[in-house]
Amino acid sequence: MRIDVVFGATSLTPALVSGRVVAVIDVLRASTSIAAALANGARTIIPLDSIDEVITRAKAFDRSEVRLAGERKMLPISGFDLGNSPSEFSREVVEGKTVLLTTTNGTSALVSVQGARDAVVAAYVNFSAVLALLGTALRGGADVTLLCAGRDRQLALEDAACAGRYALQLRARAEEAEMSDGAAACALIATQYEGRLEEMLEASEHGRALRDAGFQRDLADCAAIDAYPVVPIYQDRQITRLGPDRER
Ligand code: MLT
Repeated sequence: MRIDVVFGATSLTPALVSGRVVAVIDVLRASTSIAAALANGARTIIPLDSIDEVITRAKAFDRSEVRLAGERKMLPISGFDLGNSPSEFSREVVEGKTVLLTTTNGTSALVSVQGARDAVVAAYVNFSAVLALLGTALRGGADVTLLCAGRDRQLALEDAACAGRYALQLRARAEEAEMSDGAAACALIATQYEGRLEEMLEASEHGRALRDAGFQRDLADCAAIDAYPVVPIYQDRQITRLGPDRER
């Protein structure tokens, strides 16, 4: 059993996906917003690469059934219902709806994961729920890949720290699991910032850019451990909430 961390979808190889359990991490902010939407009753989330794809897919739905959501350069997309701030995905707005979502890094990372045994969306806000699923898979003999979406194809501090926290806690649950060097490096980063998540997000490049763009509140929302205790499963190119009707 192995725990690997991959930085950016372009570094993903078939061997790191095929038959594995893959967790896609985009703490700021796609993973967090997806968990918020599902916790608040969204029916399903369809991650899409481009704005045009969202507009085209929306035509297949009655307008009242869908929410068009996402960002470019962190800002809401003109004509869409929602940006990518977790707080926008409130129950009043998303309950029972299909969310068509496009973001700069997070949704393309998700879309790149094909052929995994299971693919889940992971963040701090759903940390324990996803950890339980990954821990069970690892103890059952599966290899786990933690895919950090990153920022503009570069390592993002917040995703590495979150991956490291998962790696550390998975290792505690399955001591015989082997960690890649990437996982071990992320574990060191996580240890450095344990108990200081908001501070870490404030210090990160992406966090500073969000603050400068007026999204300071999002940093606190994205640092709230277990605020949205859901397991978002990505299957058949859509994300739904793992629940009693959809056990693993
Ligand atoms: C992304 O997918 O790159 C992000 O979630 C960007 C953001 O909304 O801050």
